[in-house]
Amino acid sequence: MPDRGDHRAPARRAANVRLRAGIAPRGCAPLARSRTLYCAPPVLELIDLRKTHGRTLALDGVSLRVGAGEIVGLLGPNGAGKSTLVSITAGLLPADHGEVRLDLPGGRGGSPRDPAVRRQIGLAPQALALYDELSGAENLRFFAGLHGCAGQQLRVRVDAALEFVGLSERREDRVKTYSGGMARRLNLAAALVHDPALLLLDEPTVGVDPQSRAHLLDNIEQLRAQGKAVLYTTHYMEEAQRICDRVAIIDHGQLLAVDRLDSLLASHAGKPQLVVEFPDGRETVETDDPLASLNALAKDRAPLGFRVERPTLEQVFLQLTGRSLRE
Ligand SMILES: Nc1ncnc2c1ncn2[C@@H]1O[C@H](COP(=O)(O)OP(=O)(O)O)[C@@H](O)[C@H]1O
Ligand SMILES: [Mg+2]
Repeated sequence: MPDRGDHRAPARRAANVRLRAGIAPRGCAPLARSRTLYCAPPVLELIDLRKTHGRTLALDGVSLRVGAGEIVGLLGPNGAGKSTLVSITAGLLPADHGEVRLDLPGGRGGSPRDPAVRRQIGLAPQALALYDELSGAENLRFFAGLHGCAGQQLRVRVDAALEFVGLSERREDRVKTYSGGMARRLNLAAALVHDPALLLLDEPTVGVDPQSRAHLLDNIEQLRAQGKAVLYTTHYMEEAQRICDRVAIIDHGQLLAVDRLDSLLASHAGKPQLVVEFPDGRETVETDDPLASLNALAKDRAPLGFRVERPTLEQVFLQLTGRSLRE
């Protein structure tokens, strides 16, 4: 396979620097005309975030927006900088450079370092943040209380959050008796129990059974329908493809591309591939019209079978980095 990665990286990086600065890449239409890069209204805006941990450069100038009613995926391999970005966005870690701004409909905007602004954020951290010795309901009462809920409002929110993630029947059981999938669902409930406008979900489906994964993904789609802004980090491209409105690809602390899924696939993943099996071997062709290509290939000999392989985010990542997301 030809090397489609590194030799184009410098030009792409230069274009990204211009994008991060809010300037159209050379030769492109002005950003104001681009539907795909900016969402309206942005609830979260990250501007040129940089962060080093000791000698490790974890974030190298990341800018991103997330709008109300939108799921933005942050897709990248382990070590790409996703959790660092989430911690800074949640106001838990200071950036070395750059800015995090929340602009909340009817709420207080500004930096998440301000506790009143932070209350509008719900965080589901990658490392489960739950008390094993407490029940599911006690955990949620604790987290709702931390965010200023009390009395009847607290009871209603805790009940609603448990119902939402499908844990009402296990509400009085200690978390240490939960399966991995149930604990992940409670971790999501703890993030949303105080009804925040912005949800930061850091690999929310890691290590869960298929049933809990499906439940979690449905939940996250419901949050979008409620108008929440969702930043969703994952290293599973299938999840990003299924639920995200836009996908930001991150590697080595840099955003390599941010766009709608269909635009990313069209720009970086190549054409669909038609694979046709013949008695004497297999033929593979890249084609925009698989049916026409199949007819042409099958004109003189009968195929045993065929399949069409659609482009995936895996190919996008490969083209942008020269490496596989799964490596
Ligand atoms: N507290 C820390 N101290 C030192 N290095 C860290 C720390 N947190 C993260 N890193 C390093 O920063 C880089 C980005 O990590 P992280 O943000 O956790 O990535 P991801 O969530 O995408 O796996 C990695 O190289 C990681 O080893
Ligand atoms: Mg992480």
